[in-house]
Amino acid sequence: MRVLVVGSGGREHALAWRLARSSTVTEIFAAPGNSGTASLGTNLPISETDIDGLVDAAGDRMIDLVVAGPEVPLALGLSDRLAAAGIPCFGPTRAAARLEASKSFARDVQDAAGVAGPEYRVFRSASAALAYAEHRNRPLVVKADGLAAGKGVAMCANLEEAKTAILTCMQDRMFGDAGETVVVEEWLHGPEVSVFGFTDGENLSAVVAATDYKRAGEGDTGPNTGGMGSYGPPAFWDETLAERVSSEIMLPVIRELASRGAPYRGALYCGLMLTEDGPRVLEFNCRFGDPETQAIMPRLVSDPGEVMMACATGSLNDVGPVEWSNRPTVAVVMASGGYPGSYRTGVEISGLNSPGAESDDSLVFHAGVSSAEDNSGRLLTSGGRVLACVGMGDDIEQARGHAYRRAAEISFEGAYYRRDIAELHSDQPTAFQITR
Ligand code: AMP
Ligand code: GLY
Repeated sequence: MRVLVVGSGGREHALAWRLARSSTVTEIFAAPGNSGTASLGTNLPISETDIDGLVDAAGDRMIDLVVAGPEVPLALGLSDRLAAAGIPCFGPTRAAARLEASKSFARDVQDAAGVAGPEYRVFRSASAALAYAEHRNRPLVVKADGLAAGKGVAMCANLEEAKTAILTCMQDRMFGDAGETVVVEEWLHGPEVSVFGFTDGENLSAVVAATDYKRAGEGDTGPNTGGMGSYGPPAFWDETLAERVSSEIMLPVIRELASRGAPYRGALYCGLMLTEDGPRVLEFNCRFGDPETQAIMPRLVSDPGEVMMACATGSLNDVGPVEWSNRPTVAVVMASGGYPGSYRTGVEISGLNSPGAESDDSLVFHAGVSSAEDNSGRLLTSGGRVLACVGMGDDIEQARGHAYRRAAEISFEGAYYRRDIAELHSDQPTAFQITR
């Protein structure tokens, strides 16, 4: 198969890397890709939002399977357009991608499927939302309904903060149309975990879990980022919880979407909070997570080309069960100084001589890395999240050691990373406490 990976981050490098090792994949293309995907195949200079360009390129290059990394092209209808051109796409149609693209839609699907989430209300007018916040007068989470590049969620500790969030969204239109509707939720507490499964619209594969460290600073302090690290399997994750999440959360949602005539095909991402009352869904996403993908792709034992094609064509039952290795992985993101605020780019990176160089115990996935235009072979930073060092090991400690050793070998001016990724605390809840 000739496979086209859409997107340009660390997630896409990890997907392309794993696909390149598939026995069914002969050639990899990426659009627009990065220096990591360039080392595995051919980058095409097409933006991930240029749906016409992507569909044309897939036809011209005789692509057998398109693998969508990010949500935006899916919400723009990439999968539908490819289907019309007869090209299978790993990633849901626009109708099914609403599970991520509209939080109120997701909550409606969830309710119909009987899947537990935080208590919530949907508002289309600021005055009604304000009245509700006033009436509740307790910590709330205010969410812009539509896609807001991960910035549409405001955690509001008190009424003042909730009012500000509602007005910023609905009156100042900070997120444009995406904030015309808001979902106001109760603020839940507990450890968070991202759970992923492959689905063909009807069947769900074995699921895999990974954590996401969203804050910039150690001890979960500082501003929110796109994600500063990930590890898996999480210390508190076990088979019972996996089974519960599959059968009580993910499969009911897959069936509900199918019954609405919008079968969901691709990677289903469920963001969960493990509360004292059981797992609660905070979000569904229509794709794999970044940086979780960098931590889970090394654990995918099954052939990704075969599995993704089976999802795209509705035949997941025809391939064997999807297998994940339990060997722990830890991904540490190295970021540019200043990220998630403003930062410099074009800074030379040293210690990263062979793009994607891998060993048995570590890997590096590129995100904001590009090759210098002078053909000198130098690698330069080109984004906030620059790369992820992934360590593998017999236990989490060992995997962690390999990831941090690799990170210590790489340097660029202003580089920073969190030192506490996968650091295990004795006060972490046990699976027993969570599932009780
Ligand atoms: P979302 O995009 O809905 O997952 O929100 C992003 C992040 O906000 C989540 O990963 C949580 O850390 C936090 N969050 C969202 N909803 C809630 C909630 N109801 N209670 C507590 N934290 C939340
Ligand atoms: N890691 C969070 C996300 O991909 O949305």
